[in-house]
Amino acid sequence: MRQAMASAEVGDDVFGEDPTVAALQEKVAALLGKEKALYVPSGVMGNQLSIKAQTEPGDEIICEQDAHIFNYETAAPSLISSVQVKTIPGVRGAIHAEQLTAAIRPKVYYMPRSRMICLENTHNRSGGTIYPLDEIEKIFSFARSHEMLMHLDGARLWNAWVATGIHPKEYAKYFDSVSVCFSKGLGAPVGSAVAGSAAMIERVHKWRKVFGGGMRQAGIIAAGALYALDHNVERLKEDHEKAKYFAEKISTLTKLSIDMEAVQTNIIIINTEKTGRQPDEIIALLKSKGVLETLGSYNSIRAVTHLDVSMEQVRQAVDTITSTLK
Ligand SMILES: Cc1ncc(COP(=O)(O)O)c(C=O)c1O
Repeated sequence: MRQAMASAEVGDDVFGEDPTVAALQEKVAALLGKEKALYVPSGVMGNQLSIKAQTEPGDEIICEQDAHIFNYETAAPSLISSVQVKTIPGVRGAIHAEQLTAAIRPKVYYMPRSRMICLENTHNRSGGTIYPLDEIEKIFSFARSHEMLMHLDGARLWNAWVATGIHPKEYAKYFDSVSVCFSKGLGAPVGSAVAGSAAMIERVHKWRKVFGGGMRQAGIIAAGALYALDHNVERLKEDHEKAKYFAEKISTLTKLSIDMEAVQTNIIIINTEKTGRQPDEIIALLKSKGVLETLGSYNSIRAVTHLDVSMEQVRQAVDTITSTLK
């Protein structure tokens, strides 16, 4: 990847003259079955540009209550797009079409306009869970019959693809905008993309400039993303196998618990309530012993398998956690 980046052909992408960025954008658009795609610096920017380009101030967007857009993007929908976020509780990150009837607003002037439904696949906070395709289809039908748009936070759509065999295009066809990341399990250092119709991407392009996301010789980093798409998608299944192995071992410890049904890809949420310690305390303790975890939701810590974690390291992590928290 570093070699591909070092030898990347570049140009000024603010003027649309970077051939490597153009190649990446074409590849992503084709993979997602959309007219156009645009390279952006981060997943957050991809989501926020999609909201900005498709809403009006005062609109309401609907997300599952543990959605990244709602929890981890520093209230950007309200700060940047002046929209209100309505959240719905889901099961393992998935809301059901039936819940939407009660969630949308009547079309009266004194209520916000229900404008967009945002789904996340795989779902980070729920532990990398996969959104069932038949449920997405039902939500799409609902959205269309209520003149609402659909956005997919597909930061880890690649994981859903590898785990289910369902091509990204099959998922993407139900969404007006899709954001995907290259910097997670795929292992590229920087970047995400937004895909959609040519008209939508034209608006995203304009707003990307406003957000300060226009990059000059971005081909150097886009080459890393291209390399990741060409070489690192298939191998995500190794991460999934390691996650399953890790979760099975850790779930046998009496003070830790894991919803094993949620271990579908590369994220493991470990409930630490029975240890009687705060998650940040546990994270610091494990870090001092060489095992890196992050905070999960409510009384939990989050482990992720990725291309820089070998099977041997997974076993070491299991041993360290067992001796520290059993
Ligand atoms: C589901 C999801 N969406 C978006 C993002 C944001 O990506 P970035 O950190 O590149 O802004 C993340 C980051 O972890 C994520 O998990």
